[in-house]
Amino acid sequence: MVTLQTFLGTWAGDDAARKAVAGTVTAIAQAGLGIADLVARGPLEESLAKVRGVDPNAGGDTQKELDVVAEERICAALMPTAAAFLASEESEELIPLNPEGRLVVAVDPLDGSSNIDTNVSVGTIYSIMPYDPAEQADPKAAVMRPGRHQVAAGFLAYGPATILVATFGDGTQVFVHDRLSGDFVLARTEVEIPAETKEYGVNQSNVRHWDAPMQRYLDDCLAGKEGPRGKDFNMRWVGSMVADAFRIFTRGGVYVYPADKRKGYENGRLRLIYEAFPLAFLVEQAKGGATDGKTRILDIQPHHIHQRIPLVFGSRAEVEKIASYY
Ligand code: AHG
Ligand code: MN
Ligand code: MN
Repeated sequence: MVTLQTFLGTWAGDDAARKAVAGTVTAIAQAGLGIADLVARGPLEESLAKVRGVDPNAGGDTQKELDVVAEERICAALMPTAAAFLASEESEELIPLNPEGRLVVAVDPLDGSSNIDTNVSVGTIYSIMPYDPAEQADPKAAVMRPGRHQVAAGFLAYGPATILVATFGDGTQVFVHDRLSGDFVLARTEVEIPAETKEYGVNQSNVRHWDAPMQRYLDDCLAGKEGPRGKDFNMRWVGSMVADAFRIFTRGGVYVYPADKRKGYENGRLRLIYEAFPLAFLVEQAKGGATDGKTRILDIQPHHIHQRIPLVFGSRAEVEKIASYY
């Protein structure tokens, strides 16, 4: 049995930079266990699903109580680590952490906010970038680099099992929290997303707002065996990206959240830095693909911490197929 601790110990060895990353991921995983406990109390923690105040968060979404509590937990856990700054969905500006730190962390503290009070999986997404104050006088410059510069990324999903899907740039691993021992235990090494799939995940209620290429893609899927794709598709959409992503890591599929014509959705819904980048890194490390339709997600240069991006990720051949419609 390999625990997260032993895995990270072996991976880091005596390398100081790797030890810094290992300590940071350990802290996020630890904070995640606390969030998982809160989520598991369900309706007993009713207030966690309540809308907080009247002001939307930095990205323009309404904030639930648990969005803020999760951010507080992650912030506290990261304080003694090598993270110098935190970029978070719930905070307009970077949050300063350890002044000696040489990493910047970006998080979606609570992914799937609309599912908090429905006993459906929610999660936490993180991305870790190197930070060198000599090169990046403004720490925002360290955060706003193309995702290919990430040194580690992952997400926790708080569901029937609390799982951690992680990459350190050498494949994607799945850890499961073992409630008996209290440890995260390595359950799958070298995760590989099947290249082909017949399963897609979209919020179909938005189709009329989509652009023409995406509408054509979905029409062709819906046409099934008789249509140009020549096969019948299945649809699955949890509405918590972490849960949809975990299904894709398990049996393949594509997740699709395109741009649409509604106000505020011109660039889709998902955030580039703390949602699309980490998912794209994990997916590519598992031999899948991630694109905004035209550009590989990991090559996109961010221009704003909270910017949104159209997002397609999952089974490589299907992601390429979608890109071909553009
Ligand atoms: P968040 O809860 O962090 O705002 O993210 C929600 C995301 C993602 O988890 C999910 O797949 C998608 O938004 C759902 O969007 P719709 O409600 O528009 O379907
Ligand atoms: Mn999210
Ligand atoms: Mn969120």
